[in-house]
Amino acid sequence: MRKPLIAGNWKMFKTTEEALSLVEGIRAGVHKVTNCTVVICPPFTALDAVAKALKGSSVDLGAQNMHPQTEGAYTGEISPVMIKELGCRYVILGHSERRQYFGESDLFINQKVKTAIKYSLIPIVCVGETLEQRESKQFLEVVKKQIDCSLADLTKEDIAKVVLAYEPVWAIGTGRTASPEQAEQMQSYIRRLLNEKYGQDVAQKIWILYGGSVKPDNMAALIAKPNVDGALVGGASLKAESFTEIVLNAAKESLVGKAS
Ligand code: 13P
Repeated sequence: MRKPLIAGNWKMFKTTEEALSLVEGIRAGVHKVTNCTVVICPPFTALDAVAKALKGSSVDLGAQNMHPQTEGAYTGEISPVMIKELGCRYVILGHSERRQYFGESDLFINQKVKTAIKYSLIPIVCVGETLEQRESKQFLEVVKKQIDCSLADLTKEDIAKVVLAYEPVWAIGTGRTASPEQAEQMQSYIRRLLNEKYGQDVAQKIWILYGGSVKPDNMAALIAKPNVDGALVGGASLKAESFTEIVLNAAKESLVGKAS
């Protein structure tokens, strides 16, 4: 069984001082949880301080982005080696905000995924359709292309190190979450694609998270679905109480719901 994974994407929120106070709340809130992997992804500027504040806790650290090269003349960019040095184990790649506002292509994301794996970082690769693409019934096709291209040329061993996140763009920051059935439809489809490409053994090992307006009160119904293995949480990860409640609800539901 895939143990639930809940990752908080803090986006461009929290100064270092604010980050430290949030981490303190999260550490205290989740310290008894054993059957859920918890990851927080603060902005780059807070990574170092947060890594130190997480020492001795089971909460993992992730970055929100990285450049595919290890070093070079890329003003303003951060390399995999740099985030690794700060203690990151995870890195979010291909978030729709990166695709939309910074023009990131599947090809560029694919280069990042390969470098992340090379440097033993676990990439959380985001895919998802816009509202227009959903309404015009192209959503399966759009996500298939994102999966095919952003994960191109990965071996079975490589793909087993990747975490996927289905984040429908229309559900991000809108309060309009996908229904558990919509999430399951897409996520079971993604698993079928992985199955066709890499075989059942590998496909069953890959975590597929859902992201988009996840809140404490919708977490249990989402994670009860067989192919929803956790969540990538934006807004609700910025408060210790709501993030903790999401983690606790996911951990509880995975014991009572999926195990049966
Ligand atoms: P919200 O939870 O704020 O909708 O954001 C989701 C997201 O983009 C996580 O990466």
